[in-house]
Amino acid sequence: MINQGANHIWLPYSQMQNHLPQLEVERARGSKIFLKNGQVLIDGISSWWSMAHGYSHPHIIKELVRQAKILPHIMLAGFANDETYKLAYRLCQFAKMDRVFFSDSGSTAIEVAMKICWQFHINSGASSKTQFISFKNSYHGDTTGAMSLADLNSGMHQKFEKILLQNFSLDLPQNQNDLNAFEDFVRKNKNILAGIFVEPLIQCAGGMRFGDADILQQIFLIAKKHEVLFIADECAVGFYRTGKKFAINHADISPDILVVGKALTGGTMTLAATLVSEEIFKKFLGNSLDLALMHGPTFMGNPLAASAANASLDLFESENYEKKVLANEAFLKKELEKCRNLKNVKDVRVLGAVGVVEIEGGFEKMLDLRKKFVADGVFLRPFAGCIYTMPALNIKKSELKKITDSIVGILQNQK
Ligand SMILES: Cc1ncc(COP(=O)(O)O)c(C=O)c1O
Repeated sequence: MINQGANHIWLPYSQMQNHLPQLEVERARGSKIFLKNGQVLIDGISSWWSMAHGYSHPHIIKELVRQAKILPHIMLAGFANDETYKLAYRLCQFAKMDRVFFSDSGSTAIEVAMKICWQFHINSGASSKTQFISFKNSYHGDTTGAMSLADLNSGMHQKFEKILLQNFSLDLPQNQNDLNAFEDFVRKNKNILAGIFVEPLIQCAGGMRFGDADILQQIFLIAKKHEVLFIADECAVGFYRTGKKFAINHADISPDILVVGKALTGGTMTLAATLVSEEIFKKFLGNSLDLALMHGPTFMGNPLAASAANASLDLFESENYEKKVLANEAFLKKELEKCRNLKNVKDVRVLGAVGVVEIEGGFEKMLDLRKKFVADGVFLRPFAGCIYTMPALNIKKSELKKITDSIVGILQNQK
């Protein structure tokens, strides 16, 4: 059926006229992907960083099957179901937030966050506060609002500039001088600023760029001081990816809004969440429907997806993931350091279960590397000069070694 479907499917981020052949997959388990041609690949990027516990984790599958048999879906308007309500409670406890609005993907959860910010200010009598700050090289998704938060000078959304919302894309402060300039900007514009969107500690899709926890904390404090909402987009880095539950925990801050997706269901189902503090939520209360958040995706809080997320939380709560990720971090640091002095290597950096080797080279080189990794039995997807790995958090040491050996070996053998 793949041959027949190939004439009809439209693939992500692909020039459909000449894209690389798709790898035909039969099944996947743990960090292994089994292809139809008999090849087995070690997955180095856990399906766009979502598959936190590996593919087909038995506990998540068991819970999904159980839930599928009793209630795969029911609308959230008018009906309460155990799985979705259980997840609301557990996720708020886990993330130390107060309320959660569920949606379908990271991008839609970002749209919800933007709308919550706008309406929070409207409900507070400050309707001029409509614009956002986000940072150069940031990525918050592909929907219209989320594209409006991207760095339009460098990214793939540039061509849509004319139809996007007007926001401010600023350099991410690197030192105290930058922070002072940033604060001046926020102070001057506070009457029109609705919020500041941050990818805490790692800008992933924008080039796997690492940030600093102290600077993150200062940005948060500036936002608080000038009454601008602080939104932490942890779609990519939430759920222990950086070694702590959430990247914001490195900076010891409590955002007004926290956005999660990807690993929320252990990467098994599509589900995302926009979590808010009680202070934000309270502004939507009153006798008039006009004050309420008028938003409601059809599959909001889907019980099947919620059962996967609850099962994923069971796993996070039953083992020490901080320790697991720190062990991966130490291993990645040791192994990837071997690349530091190789030809064309610009930088090697590791944080939590994220390992990056930045190299010289354009798009063609990245495509060529992808093929070489597959030939080597590893699935990696270098982009924008970054060979990176973000594997399942519970990847076996021998599998992680295969990934790092492949990166080191291929870079050693460059012409
Ligand atoms: C930080 C961040 N926010 C939002 C998104 C969008 O998530 P989704 O692809 O689920 O819409 C992504 C996806 O890579 C992301 O990395």
